[in-house]
Amino acid sequence: MHQAASPKREHSYLQQAAINVLQNNDMGTFIRPGTYQYPHQWNWDSALIALGLVHVDITRAQHEVRQLLAGQWRDGMLPHVIYHPTEGTSDYFPSADFWQTPKDITPEVPTSGITQPPILATCLRRMHKHHPKAMLPFLREVYPHVLNWHRWLHRARDPEQQGLVAIIHPWESGTDNAARWVHPLARITPRNVPAYQRRDAQHVDASERPFTAEYERFIYLIDQFRRVHYEPAKLYATSPFLVADSFFNAITYRAEKDLREIAMLLGEPTKELDNWLARTQQAFQERLWLEQGYFASFDVRYNVTMYEHDIATFAPLFAGLTSQAQAETLIDNYLLQADFYAPDEHSRYLLPSLAKTSLFYEPRRYWRGPVWIVTNWLVMEGLLDYGYGELANTIKEHSLALLEQGFYEYYDPRDGTPAGASGFSWSAALALELLHE
Ligand code: DGY
Repeated sequence: MHQAASPKREHSYLQQAAINVLQNNDMGTFIRPGTYQYPHQWNWDSALIALGLVHVDITRAQHEVRQLLAGQWRDGMLPHVIYHPTEGTSDYFPSADFWQTPKDITPEVPTSGITQPPILATCLRRMHKHHPKAMLPFLREVYPHVLNWHRWLHRARDPEQQGLVAIIHPWESGTDNAARWVHPLARITPRNVPAYQRRDAQHVDASERPFTAEYERFIYLIDQFRRVHYEPAKLYATSPFLVADSFFNAITYRAEKDLREIAMLLGEPTKELDNWLARTQQAFQERLWLEQGYFASFDVRYNVTMYEHDIATFAPLFAGLTSQAQAETLIDNYLLQADFYAPDEHSRYLLPSLAKTSLFYEPRRYWRGPVWIVTNWLVMEGLLDYGYGELANTIKEHSLALLEQGFYEYYDPRDGTPAGASGFSWSAALALELLHE
């Protein structure tokens, strides 16, 4: 068990320690998310890593984004993992070969066949805010590629243009084993699952990782996608998992607001972005807001609302999708309630990734309860926009206190014990961003 570090350690120490983590994870072509657990380039990790890096080395930060975009498919899809060649062998599963992605639309560098939360545009806009002069030509270079990804999201994942993009795999949400996936995954019966060997519990204790039954479905889904050769229309029509996730859609919406700002800076047209924004806003209000006072996700395949209250329900704050009154309800009725998220005598740190009342709450298991720096950052940003500066500051203090114990993937909300992967890049990158702000 790790000793809680003194919260009084100097911030300059934390900053240097964060830079060391990023340097240690620098593989030259890209920065790996974690020293042992994640040896390739992950999509949303990499966008957040670039945001942190911009405080240290702008050229390296831009390189990170270029390397991510090198994985873009010809139809615009930006995959969740890019398998750049690295020295030595990787023991990560699934390997690049396992995906069996189609040669005709994939880039030279091997990739996975699914996407991840599109936070890149938001990170790019923020990188520009920190370094406007150096970032403007870079925005011009990458803007068309990022726009293409968003076009693909709307075309491939919202074919009927209803305003919400669907995800086809829990990994696409970035919150792999979140409790909101329990029911959608339970509706899937994996058959003829290809032989595989999990490697994710080699470096991290199995009690902090997804359950076997979930992992089996993760692999079964990939096999279903291989069978239809990743053709978007077939994936949408046949994927046993098809969910309009409030978390993924909130991030998409926020990214499109940021893309719009970038378009304005570049003198590019904004009509297409305006249409997406208007449609998503309407769909959030009409399809996802519940009278219980939060935005739920929706199982598109089975046409049912997903009621589980978890960290996803706060993402609309980050997106600016809630009215002021909705924000107040969400904060007063959930965030500030000790039986849901707020600290009490058993739980010291904001913000658990799952409501403490949930049957599925496990304070050390991945997305079933631990505090993540990334979601703390998203919620903090949202709270600031809605005028909750003091609460945002409390979350920042809690985040820094956790980071002072080391840059881990997540932390136990009860006592701050670090969990998951160590030497975790986006925790380090976000520390740099938090210390800057
Ligand atoms: C993993 O391997 O655990 C990842 O989250 C999948 O992208």
